Amino acid sequence: MDYECIMTEVRGESALKTGLITLNRPKQMNALNDRLMDELGAALLAFDADDGIGCIIVTGSEKAFAAGADIAAMATLGHMDAWKAGYISRNWETIRQVKKPVIAAVAGFALGGGCEVAMMCDIVLAADNAKFGQPEIKLGIVPGAGGTQRLPRAVGKAKAMDMLLTGRMMGAEEAERAGLVSRIVPLAGLLDEAFATAELINALGAPSIALTKELVNEAFESGLSSGVKAERRVFHSLFGTEDQREGMDAFLAKRKPAFKHR
Ligand code: HXC
Repeated sequence: MDYECIMTEVRGESALKTGLITLNRPKQMNALNDRLMDELGAALLAFDADDGIGCIIVTGSEKAFAAGADIAAMATLGHMDAWKAGYISRNWETIRQVKKPVIAAVAGFALGGGCEVAMMCDIVLAADNAKFGQPEIKLGIVPGAGGTQRLPRAVGKAKAMDMLLTGRMMGAEEAERAGLVSRIVPLAGLLDEAFATAELINALGAPSIALTKELVNEAFESGLSSGVKAERRVFHSLFGTEDQREGMDAFLAKRKPAFKHR
């Protein structure tokens, strides 16, 4: 697929590399139109299917991760247009199919659908200039890609209500305090930190990485009992892998593990 609205790149020195996806509609502050979301979905699935790739990073520009769904493309839609086009669900959920860790490296505005895409990623690194918000209320709509569901789970009800009902933005520090982002990084070092994080993960065993991601999502999306049961099943099953033996033997022998399943 020839990409118009994103750029892709592969980086890394070790066996497993990292796939970088850069959202790239600079004139529109990376507003998310159908084309961009189709391309993002295709690039994510291609990296996910590539055995040479361990982690995927999604980033935008220094000014904007993404300023939301493309308002110009939505402004004249009627109810049936939105419904028929499968607007929102058609390509906004692709990121949830990805089994490998996805790191959002967020600088500048992450608003509306942009904030929702960041929340669908597994690790969110925020540059010190990052600004998050769900301003849909100011447009007379509500978030459409999980914002009303993921934001309260991420930051709690009170802050989610505050953000969603006023449409105000929050800066990186407030976002970190609230648990919306994993870490704040100086803007100039954002991508380096994202790649360093990916490298740490790429050195580990692929099955336990993929299963950990699945289990954390289970915690996020289901009740405690089913999550704990799922975790126990996975815990037991990993004792059938060479990586478990190697990881534990290496620890006891005080050497670095050489995981087979990368
Ligand atoms: C289309 C957008 C856009 C968007 C910015 N632009 N955001 N175009 N859709 N979401 C365009 C502007 O129209 C402008 O184009 C150019 O980008 C630069 O933006 P400015 O507003 O001039 O820049 P600035 O004053 O710095 O303000 C930046 C901003 C503001 C705070 C990000 O642009 C803004 O509030 N944008 C809208 C944010 C928003 O409401 N997002 C939620 C969308 S709804 P021109 O041609 O004038 O230069 C949504 C629903 C998700 O996301 C549903 C899931 C499917």
